[in-house]
Amino acid sequence: MAIAKVLVGYHVGVQCPRGSTLGGYSGKVRRTQCRPGGRIVAMSVQKTNKLQQAEKLLHEFRQSSATPLALLHQVANDLVHEMNAGLAVEGGSDQLKMLPTYVQNLPSGKEKGLFYAVDLGGTNFRVLRVLLGGKSGQILSQEFKEVAIPRELMVGTGKDLFDFIAGTLAAFVDTEDESLKLHFGKVRESGFAFSFPVRQTSVKSGIVIHWTKGFKVEDAVGKDIVKQLQDALGRSGHQIVISALVNDTVGTLAGGRYNFEEETMVGCIIGTGTNACYVERADAVQKWEDPLPKSGEMVINMEWGNFRSHLLPRTFADEEVDRESVNPGCQWFEKMISGMYLGEIVRHVLVRLAEEASLFGASVPVKLYERRTLGTPAVSKMHADTSTDLQVVAKVLRQVYGVETTTLEERKIVHKVCDILGERGGRLAAAGLYGILKKIGRTGTAMNGATDRKKTVIAMDGGLFEHHGTYRAYMEETLQELMGSGAAYEVALRLQNDGSGIGAALLAASHSQFS
Ligand code: BGC
Repeated sequence: MAIAKVLVGYHVGVQCPRGSTLGGYSGKVRRTQCRPGGRIVAMSVQKTNKLQQAEKLLHEFRQSSATPLALLHQVANDLVHEMNAGLAVEGGSDQLKMLPTYVQNLPSGKEKGLFYAVDLGGTNFRVLRVLLGGKSGQILSQEFKEVAIPRELMVGTGKDLFDFIAGTLAAFVDTEDESLKLHFGKVRESGFAFSFPVRQTSVKSGIVIHWTKGFKVEDAVGKDIVKQLQDALGRSGHQIVISALVNDTVGTLAGGRYNFEEETMVGCIIGTGTNACYVERADAVQKWEDPLPKSGEMVINMEWGNFRSHLLPRTFADEEVDRESVNPGCQWFEKMISGMYLGEIVRHVLVRLAEEASLFGASVPVKLYERRTLGTPAVSKMHADTSTDLQVVAKVLRQVYGVETTTLEERKIVHKVCDILGERGGRLAAAGLYGILKKIGRTGTAMNGATDRKKTVIAMDGGLFEHHGTYRAYMEETLQELMGSGAAYEVALRLQNDGSGIGAALLAASHSQFS
């Protein structure tokens, strides 16, 4: 609690902050002055003072972003509280939607035949086909095509977006090898991994609740997403039936069950956006009004990106990022831990350091003020820089911001900013997973120091988890820390590569309308 309170040095709509600080510090800070054109120059910050000032600001920022274990336990408890509220009644939690997915059986390994999948995630969109080998549980072949979604389609009309998606799938189907055609009866089937909040009405239909991750296709909200795609496929002249609509986390969980062991209980994405789903006891889903599924289980899509516990260590930079987003006030957890926002948070901190401690010299590099100039991959590269003179950091600053010369001390500060935020993201993500494990009774201490601990696998996917090694290491370490040394369960995070698309194809197979 105390931690959460010291943090916010936030200035609403300020381009040129007046003596503001990184951590909400209100002591003596040198004034900054706006120059025409919005560039800011710190006045008379002595070179020797400059580093001290930067270190001081950084120290405050580190404190405001801190995630001590006790806080993470409280965050996990808060998450469990919201999970219970969201399962009890529709709208029971204003943070976690806890959406029943209608997936009552995960793939068994017996799925057979050729299936397609459409995977609309964040920045990229994929179409793929997989040939499933049946009992042997093998994927005999898989092919995919990835295309970037043009920016105008992310904020355009549903018809344009779905015509683009259907057109890409149709063109991909046309490249199908002759030998594969044998695997079909009359109609091709596809899974649809749709990585946005949807209230499902069956395993192959669902209403878009709202968009996230920079998408804003207003006229698609409130409508059945599968019908919109199915109509567009009709317009393309191809007969392809969507047999399963799945969130990307659910696809990842399904892929995990197929590839790993039975005990894969959670699917989690840490990529452009973030979310988790898990296998819940059906009778714990009190808001479920239909007859309970035979399996006794139901996969729940939590939509945890919208978790907004007041315990989350938010800083001025998080406030800025939220304010500048297309959905202010929403998706706080996502904005603190996922790939779409990490680079932006780091950029805001660097702006503040440049303005208030002349980090990059007398004037602030103009480009540093430009939104989305620092991608999360660049942050990840800088964070991974282990060279003694931080050459990678120097290179990124040169290439992205045109800062030709930096001192080692300055580069160390930039590196520390990346570390503070990577650590915070990884640790908070781990707290979220720990909360889920707690909810399903997979935490606690082993009786008599049991040696045959039961395993729980968490199937992971998403670019940030896959490519940002330090973030991932923080996440893994923290999860073990939270579980404790005498834990009753052994938990493993396993990368389920391309999880969502393959999982969607697998679920299309297990829910096939023709076999
Ligand atoms: C969406 C989720 C999705 C997650 C990861 C979030 O922004 O709301 O549905 O699972 O991103 O892609």
